[in-house]
Amino acid sequence: MTEDRTFAIAPNETRAAALDRLAALLEGSGVDEARADARALLLAAAGLTHAQWVLEPSALLGQEAAARLAGYAARRAAREPVSRILAKRGFWTLDLDVAPNVLDPRADTETLVALALRLTANRRDEPLSFLDLGSGSGAILCALLAESPAAWGVAVDLSAAACDATRANLAALGLESRASVLRGRWAEAISGRFDVVVSNPPYVKRADIATLAPEVTLHDPALALDGGADGLACYREIATELPRLLKGDGVALFEAGAGQIGEISAFLEMAGLEIAGVERDLGGHERAVAARAPGAESVTI
Ligand SMILES: C[S@@+](CC[C@H](N)C(=O)[O-])C[C@H]1O[C@@H](n2cnc3c(N)ncnc32)[C@H](O)[C@@H]1O
Repeated sequence: MTEDRTFAIAPNETRAAALDRLAALLEGSGVDEARADARALLLAAAGLTHAQWVLEPSALLGQEAAARLAGYAARRAAREPVSRILAKRGFWTLDLDVAPNVLDPRADTETLVALALRLTANRRDEPLSFLDLGSGSGAILCALLAESPAAWGVAVDLSAAACDATRANLAALGLESRASVLRGRWAEAISGRFDVVVSNPPYVKRADIATLAPEVTLHDPALALDGGADGLACYREIATELPRLLKGDGVALFEAGAGQIGEISAFLEMAGLEIAGVERDLGGHERAVAARAPGAESVTI
């Protein structure tokens, strides 16, 4: 007998009872943080703030919210991430739109943003230039520009959907006048030099992609995941370009996958750069590495 994964809600069901049933359904579908996801979907379906939920868990859900929640429940049970169902993702201090066929930005990437901001902390009011290679939703560039009021930036992505998503997020945040978005292969079409070059390139080993959670394999585009046979192909390619992209006191930053920092640092050094620092994410994993031109001692962590 197959398990019933549908989620019909009785109009007289309370918010708390609906949450319990939805959490059980999601858990049965293999969702990791089933209760947290159920609550996020319930709050969104009913248009509730967290406080309203806490104060009135025994209020009736109501028919409209129940119908909306049933739709969300079916999608989450089929392993679509909450951020894609709600088309929103909190990143850094921003609310970003999440678009189909574009990588859903991850909290780990905030480590790269934090490191870039730390390295430019005493230059926050200067007209710094940022280059974001593989911009996806535009998460990194949007966060950097939002924190650096006089800065400007260029975003590059090979995916048309990603370029559209970057433009849309820049516009929604009022940052579009300080940024250009180019569709192309890494820095192929870039001729200038930048204060900060950032990249979170695809870094999953090709053979590992099929083993990732359905939330990733079914919803994040392969172009955003596939790092070639050893996961490092994009770093190799981008690292050789960095010396011509950096100003004399410029800095380049990469996000890294688990266990990749050593090899990525070696690529950066082979390209003639010096490692300026490594940053750990909240889980304690080495997640981002920064490199500078030799002698650019001002760039330190
Ligand atoms: C891991 S995603 C990162 C997206 C975004 N920067 C973020 O951190 O959320 C990598 C991005 O690189 C883009 N990409 C892959 N190969 C590329 C290439 N050869 N040239 C430019 N962009 C590429 C993908 O389309 C994808 O948007």
